[in-house]
Amino acid sequence: MIFIETLKQIHQEINDVKISTVEELELFRLTFLSKNGKIAKLLDEFKLMPKEVKREAGKPLNEVKKLAEEVFKANEGVVKNNQNTQKDIDLTRQASTIALGSTHPITLVRQEIESIFERIGFTISKGPEIEDDWHNFSALNFPEEHPARDMQDTFFIEKSPDWALRTHTSSIQVRVLDKQKPPIRTLAPGRVFRNEAISSRAHCIFHQIEGIYIDKNVSFADMKQTLLYFAKEFFGENAKIRLRPSYFPFTEPSAEMDVYWGLNSEADYRITKGTGWLEVMGCGMIDPAVLESSNIDPKEYSGYAFGMGIERIAMNKFQITDLRMFFENDLRFLNQFISEV
Ligand code: DAH
Repeated sequence: MIFIETLKQIHQEINDVKISTVEELELFRLTFLSKNGKIAKLLDEFKLMPKEVKREAGKPLNEVKKLAEEVFKANEGVVKNNQNTQKDIDLTRQASTIALGSTHPITLVRQEIESIFERIGFTISKGPEIEDDWHNFSALNFPEEHPARDMQDTFFIEKSPDWALRTHTSSIQVRVLDKQKPPIRTLAPGRVFRNEAISSRAHCIFHQIEGIYIDKNVSFADMKQTLLYFAKEFFGENAKIRLRPSYFPFTEPSAEMDVYWGLNSEADYRITKGTGWLEVMGCGMIDPAVLESSNIDPKEYSGYAFGMGIERIAMNKFQITDLRMFFENDLRFLNQFISEV
């Protein structure tokens, strides 16, 4: 019987069908299950058949119809799954950008200074932000009545006047000298605190980097050469330096170092107060009394120390006119320092 033959053939066709896309699934539906599909046609034919034939053909016809429906259902699930896991992913599409934080300008400058000194053998040392009088003042040769100990400058810890927030990173010098034997060559960066009114040029919190070098026969000339190297690395090959006599309790002789910045633009006049020179750091030969208080024999060893404010240097480097910007965490400011990787 032709009808039965056709049924068998369609049964086979359905079994052979391979479906993996939405389009193929739709084609299957149109071919077999739609109003004008093969199965609908068979059903139409079936209706017109004589009773005896119907008895014979009914069951296989039903089976083919069921099979087509099952195949459709099964593949519908698979295709949907495929769609979710693969079809929706466009591997050529650009990833949406994730907002990355930027490195804070103070950190940028600190890292640059550290790397300049690390190249000539300086290590990095750290110390606590809460210090006792000994490490912040006495061991550094500050006389009892020195004005820097005044309440005006120092944040003392309430009810415990021997403890205060360190006013400079020089306190780390003392901790290093207590722990290490010369030769000592180290850099000590850190946050420092002073009881000052906040303005565009001063803040109660700022950052310093301290450096010390102690060995046999360390001279003022060694210091000058090292600081010139630093100035050239940081400010450029043509940088010039000058040392002006100054006073610090923990160094003798003491000096302040200026770097020649130039006087080419109006900003140069403002930054250098019309002199062309930029005040960059304090420095000097470590006072023998400081070495002695850490049990280092000043007859055998000598050394130099220097200390600079990171904010001051960062302000010049990035032409920032208000110190408070460093502490306000304004993203419009910070986003300018996102490095272009
Ligand atoms: N501690 C000084 C200050 O806070 C800076 C300083 C000056 C550090 C001279 C030094 C130095 O090591 O030799 O102003």
